[in-house]
Amino acid sequence: MANNHGIVYMGNGKVEVQSIEFPKLAINNRKCEHGVIVKPIATNICGSDQHMVRGRTTAPIGMVLGHEITGEVIECGKDVEFIKKGDIVSVPFNVACGRCRNCKERHTDVCLHVNTERAGGAYGYVDMGGWIGGQAEYVMIPYADWNVLKFPDKDQALAKIRDLACLTDILPTGYHGCITAGVTTGSTVLISGAGPVGLAAAAAAFLLGAAVVIVADFNKARLEHARSFGCETINLGIHDSIADQIEHILGVPEVDCAVDCVGFEAKGHGNTEAPAIVLNQLMEVTRAAGAIGISGLYVTEDPGAKSESARLGTLSLKFGLGWAKSHSFFTGQTPVMKYNRGLMMAILHDRIQIAKAVNVEVISLMSAPEAYQAFDSGVAKKFVIDPHDMIQ
Ligand SMILES: NC(=O)c1ccc[n+]([C@@H]2O[C@H](COP(=O)([O-])OP(=O)(O)OC[C@H]3O[C@@H](n4cnc5c(N)ncnc54)[C@H](O)[C@@H]3O)[C@@H](O)[C@H]2O)c1
Ligand SMILES: [Zn+2]
Ligand SMILES: [Zn+2]
Repeated sequence: MANNHGIVYMGNGKVEVQSIEFPKLAINNRKCEHGVIVKPIATNICGSDQHMVRGRTTAPIGMVLGHEITGEVIECGKDVEFIKKGDIVSVPFNVACGRCRNCKERHTDVCLHVNTERAGGAYGYVDMGGWIGGQAEYVMIPYADWNVLKFPDKDQALAKIRDLACLTDILPTGYHGCITAGVTTGSTVLISGAGPVGLAAAAAAFLLGAAVVIVADFNKARLEHARSFGCETINLGIHDSIADQIEHILGVPEVDCAVDCVGFEAKGHGNTEAPAIVLNQLMEVTRAAGAIGISGLYVTEDPGAKSESARLGTLSLKFGLGWAKSHSFFTGQTPVMKYNRGLMMAILHDRIQIAKAVNVEVISLMSAPEAYQAFDSGVAKKFVIDPHDMIQ
């Protein structure tokens, strides 16, 4: 049997490269003849992984991480009809069955059949069905005909792999945040958070025709990167009032659309924990009748929270403000499959430079533990692991 190695969560702040089992077309005694074995060419580290690695979730020690998988199909189960060995595919981070009511209604983010505990599945993620992660040399992808997006041409895919690697999660997530926030031609948009998701949302907003995209964060390097492709920025370390800064940029203290790309580990002044701060700020500065896309992750349990209520995922929201302004709110994991084909075409035809926007850096599997630390320190990079040294 072939060897396999993967990135394993080993407790607070710690990940290791370990020898792991070669994937089978089965999981938890459940047969997966509808699945394929994929050899990842690009498998990315995500801010969502960091929530687990920082001990801010109930992720079990020993879990293989990785939900952003792009790779080559090397084996197909006998029920796979249309995906073939040798295909280069993008795997949405959502695991979805394609058979339940939610999948049929395009809510692959909350598939009803892939997780016995709650709706929705993902690879290598706490509470998401126990599917083994893909920051590894090999990984099993179930319901392959339904889940994977095949790239039209192998050589073209390899040539653009840094960009295409962003299709598994961050580009569709940034795009979904913008779509749900109502971004369209001429919109003014505020994006909170300049991590890879925030930068992807900013690039998506331009693709959708936004007039002005403003990105807010405390992180200078990330804000500088946002400016490199045309965003306005607000440095929260310097400026107290987001509304004043928006007024300075736009002439009015509000935006048409807002996207939360931070989530429950949001910080307030002096680096304090302030899990509701972004949502409250976005209600303050989004125009009446506007919409707020909430791509940042919020949890039902946060063992690392400072207050008892935040430990249970209960936030101090100024909900009345949003109500008074008739705001719409959109939450949840991104249903990647809704967007990945269109965004693939935008990449293949040079309509978006997403690898540049999020500053992709390709690394080896062995250097992933270091990259986890660098990412946690806030570098302006999106780390893409190349486990087989295939990226030129
Ligand atoms: N909905 C989905 O399907 C989905 C998919 C991918 C990622 N996510 C979530 O999106 C969020 C962002 O992901 P990422 O990879 O960019 O993470 P990241 O940790 O790299 O970036 C988060 C950024 O938010 C900034 N920040 C902290 N407090 C802030 C505040 N009060 N205002 C503005 N910025 C603030 C941080 O400085 C950091 O730069 C995470 O919560 C992640 O779990 C959700
Ligand atoms: Zn991700
Ligand atoms: Zn389903």
